[in-house]
Amino acid sequence: MWAVGLVAVALVVIYCSHLIMKWKNPKIDGVLPPGSMGWPLIGETLQFIAPGRSLDLHPFVKKRMQKYVIWELYGPIFKTSLVGRPIIVSTDNEINKYIFQHEGTLVELWYLDSFAKFFALEGETRVNAIGRVHRYMRGITLNHFGVESLKKSLLPKIEDLLHTNLSKWATQDPVDIKQVISVMVFNFTASKIFGYDAENSKEKLSDNYTRMMNSFISLPLNIPGTSFHQCMQDREKMLKMLKDTLMERLNDPSKRRGDFLDQAIDDMETEKFLTVDFIPQLLFGILFASFESISTILTLTFKFLSENTRVVEELAAEHDAIVRKRENPDSRLTWEEYKSMTFTQMVVNETLRISNIPPGLFRKALKDFQVKGYTVPAGWAVMLVTPAAQLNPETFKDPVTFNPWRWKDLDQVTIYKNFMPFGGGTRQCAGAEYSKLVLSTFLHVLVTRFRFTKVKGGDVSRTPFISFGDGIHIKFTAKN
Ligand code: HEM
Repeated sequence: MWAVGLVAVALVVIYCSHLIMKWKNPKIDGVLPPGSMGWPLIGETLQFIAPGRSLDLHPFVKKRMQKYVIWELYGPIFKTSLVGRPIIVSTDNEINKYIFQHEGTLVELWYLDSFAKFFALEGETRVNAIGRVHRYMRGITLNHFGVESLKKSLLPKIEDLLHTNLSKWATQDPVDIKQVISVMVFNFTASKIFGYDAENSKEKLSDNYTRMMNSFISLPLNIPGTSFHQCMQDREKMLKMLKDTLMERLNDPSKRRGDFLDQAIDDMETEKFLTVDFIPQLLFGILFASFESISTILTLTFKFLSENTRVVEELAAEHDAIVRKRENPDSRLTWEEYKSMTFTQMVVNETLRISNIPPGLFRKALKDFQVKGYTVPAGWAVMLVTPAAQLNPETFKDPVTFNPWRWKDLDQVTIYKNFMPFGGGTRQCAGAEYSKLVLSTFLHVLVTRFRFTKVKGGDVSRTPFISFGDGIHIKFTAKN
């Protein structure tokens, strides 16, 4: 009997070894880049989510860049596997730019892929359907957050929002800056998108979103008790709330207010993919794209400013000069004043350069294609690590040191080639102008009307998204 048992164990071991070998050496036509696929299913996910304790490139990427460049002719490009998916990682900006330029032909966003089958019209290819939905999403975002809206209506509203919130924080004990900014930015963006009224709403939606962000990259184990399960529940709750708001407006037109959601409702007539199930997903996606990024960048700005008093002094000089030039010093910030903020733009660029909120941008290969002698197989994910160029010491000396003055000496070609905080190609961020305006206006209101000191905190790590440990606690006081 024990012999039968032994044979069974041996067969299981042989079968498992076979699976592991197959996992580690996937069969494809062509040559895969170097790299390890890690363990079956989890791949190298644990190494990927292990915290990196500085603002430098996440150690997962940095270690592999160093390892593979030694015997790589063209590197650094490597293969790995994360959360159950095989991935090609590119830290080479030339390859990244090439891939950005071939959206829709070589690669596409992987999240759109799963939607494609739902909204393709009869006879329409998947790629065309994705293109149509993508153009719509981009257009509607630019319509509500692009330059024209900023100039026409958003600039004074943003200035008011910042003034009101900073004045409130100045009356309080030190505030955890990431927490208060997240709530402020979420509530403002959600009010512009679907009329969310934070003061009178039972649900604190900003809490839901923050929790979701914290478990965004986790093992996809949808069982109670895991952070992935919590993330899915928060997402469902949020989508339900968005759908309820949509149905309310469809059933009672007096509830309409001319915002982002109302434009989507109007467009339901002409764009067949705008169904009552898809619109909540669209709103959810725009909120997701907008709120965490701005609040993280603003929080980092406080870290950098509190460690660099010379920067604060030069900012104050620039903004005091703007106020002095006005006939009425209390008048509103104008578009022309915003565009004249030379040093402020350097501060914003420097913060964006170092921050790199996501570890990379994800795509899915539509077909097999070659980059510098390697094959990227159809169906594999591709991670474009744009932060690698922004933190390259050959282009940006002491790359993790916050030095806004470095932008004085950088020429346009170097900037174009190496600085991509808002992505590239046809998918470049539709909220880029809005974000830069919020960051600059924040600095304007802050240095002209308030003083601040860091009371405690300031540790930053990459997990691989940026996180702030015990937070950064700031005490504000109003200037007389
Ligand atoms: C500092 C703040 C922000 C940063 C650093 C940022 C960064 C990015 C990046 C890197 C992409 C490209 C993603 C990819 O190629 O996979 C992107 C796309 C996008 N972002 Fe932002 N973003 C910011 C704020 C915002 C805001 C405030 C909004 C909305 C109001 C927004 C809306 C979008 C949209 C709609 C896309 C998709 C564009 C497309 O596919 O055509 N973003 N963002």
